Parts: sequence; C-alpha cells; structure tokens
Amino acid sequence: MEKIFVIGAGTMGLDIAQVFAKAGFEVAVQDVSDKILDGTRAKLVKSLEKLVTKGTMSEENKAALLGRMRFTTDVAAAAHADLVIEAVVENMEIKRKVFASLDGICKPETILASNTSSISITAIAAVTSRQDRVIGMHFFNPAVVMKLVEVIRGANTSDETTETVKALASQIGKRPVEVNEGPGFVVNKILCPMINEAVGLLELGVASAEDIDTAMCLGANHPMGPLTLADLIGLDVCLSVMETLHAETGDDKYRPSMLLRKYVRAGKLGRKTGVGFYDYRK
Ligand code: 3HC
Repeated sequence: MEKIFVIGAGTMGLDIAQVFAKAGFEVAVQDVSDKILDGTRAKLVKSLEKLVTKGTMSEENKAALLGRMRFTTDVAAAAHADLVIEAVVENMEIKRKVFASLDGICKPETILASNTSSISITAIAAVTSRQDRVIGMHFFNPAVVMKLVEVIRGANTSDETTETVKALASQIGKRPVEVNEGPGFVVNKILCPMINEAVGLLELGVASAEDIDTAMCLGANHPMGPLTLADLIGLDVCLSVMETLHAETGDDKYRPSMLLRKYVRAGKLGRKTGVGFYDYRK
C-alpha cells in the first residue's frame, strides 16, 4: 500500500489524511469544490504550524508531510489508489452512490473502506462487485490523537482484506480492533446512548450542562464530559447514530432525546457550527 485516497474533506477526512501522510503515505483528499478544498488546506497548514510552534514537529517534517498530500475535486483520480477511505456525510444513499462510483473507477484489487459511524458495511458493499474488499475503517475524533481504529467486517469482507487493513492501522500508529457488523459497532453502541442520556438529563432539568459534564469528568474520570464530547463529535452525527441504533434494534432505549433533535433542527451542531450545548463563538 502506497497511495491512499480520502473522499470527503470534513474534519474526519482531513484528520485521517493527515495521519496517513504523517506515516509516509501519499494521500489525495477529494471533495466537491475548490472552495472547500482551499479551506481544508488552510486548516491543515494552520494546525501543522501550531505543532511547529509547540516544537512537536520540525519545519522539514511539516513541508514533507504537506508534500505528500494532494487536494482534488476529481473522484476519477481514485483510479491510482491502493486504498480509498470514504468520510462523507452519514447518509446511506450518499455512501452507496460513492461506493458504486468508486467500484467503477478503482483497480480491482483496491480496498474500499468507509469511516461510517454506524451504517451497515454489508449494505454499502452490496452496491459494488468487490464485497470481499469493502470494509469499515472507523477513526475517532480527533483522529490525529485517538489511538483506536475499529476494523469492521461486513458479511462478505474477506480475511485477507481484514488482515491487510488491521496491519495498515498498526503501521500508521493506531490500535486496530476487529469488529463484526452490528449497529454502532462497539464504541458508538456504548458511547452515543451515554451522550443521549446526558442530553435527556439536561432536558429534564436535572442539572446544568456544565454540572453534567463536571460530574462525568470527576465522577467517572472521563477526559471530557458527555455534552462537551457531543459538541466535538457533532450533534448531527450523534443523532444519526441514535436513529440507526433505534431503527435497527427497534428498542426504545435508543430513542433519540427530543432536545438532541431540537438542537440539530436549529443548526446547533456543536463546534463545527460555533454553537451546540456550549457557545464557541466568543
Ligand atoms: N487536533 C489535533 N491535535 C489535538 C486535538 C485536535 N482536535 N485536540 C487535542 N490535540 C492534541 C494536543 O495538541 C495535545 O498534543 P501534545 O500532547 O503533543 O501537546 C494532545 O492532543 C492532548 O491535548 P490537550 O492537552 O489539549 O487536551 P487533553 O489532554 O484534554 O486531550 C482530547 C484532548 C484528546 C480530545 C481528550 O479530551 C479526549 O480524549 N477526549 C475524548 C475524545 C473522544 O472520546 N473521542 C471519541 C469520540 S467518538 C467518535 O469520534 C466516533 C464517531 O463515529 C462519533
């Protein structure tokens, strides 16, 4: 594996691309417009400059990392990739369209991976003619820091693809865990209901957002409280995971809190929109 192609230049797509480029891979990041890609590149340069200022990255390494990254609006450039990682919006139909198109563009041996938070890998793979080479490669936010990659097997993912992707995750400094498909996989099946429960407590007026977060940081030793974490992940992503868990299991314990829906409807998605449970505009 030498050439990695990332579809989607949002927070996760950019961070995943950065992790691969840091590990020495050639990485192309694709999104739909030059305007989005210009913003993405500027964001990357700014965060690398911070590392240089802090002394955790040299100027040479920064230049080398940037030299290994390319930005493009052309999906057809995925034809040269050994691995494609899709990190577009959490919507089954959009993901299936992306995979159907990649299946026509990519070399037969190319592995197609999805960074989906909870959508079925089997359902995504079903639109391709290479179901054995479709897999989940689920990174955690912030992906440049978080060590875990869930390697998710769809119904027809081969052992060879699974082993290749696990080895690759280790090569980029991450710890892979192998997961069989199930809604929310492992982390989100546990984490998102906890966040939803915290939103429910806020909705009931049991405690303020700050006190709920402080309680979980100091009482359960979490590095950040559930509402701060929701703002980091994106409230739309949290809602989408809960909707998948609820729909797939039919169990009401996964019903999304009304307050979570209300915030998403109001466009209060967390850090990425400047407001969520907290206000980041100040
Ligand atoms: N981008 C790049 N680097 C970052 C970063 C970011 N967004 N946030 C923190 N860092 C780096 C800092 O620069 C620092 O690096 P250094 O040690 O080299 O100086 C290091 O991470 C530690 O950061 P800080 O000292 O500023 O802060 P903390 O010690 O509080 O750690 C944190 C920050 C790692 C984000 C920590 O609060 C944490 O682990 N939070 C929980 C995150 C989590 O649970 N993520 C999973 C979400 S679920 C998910 O993503 C799945 C999806 O499908 C929904």
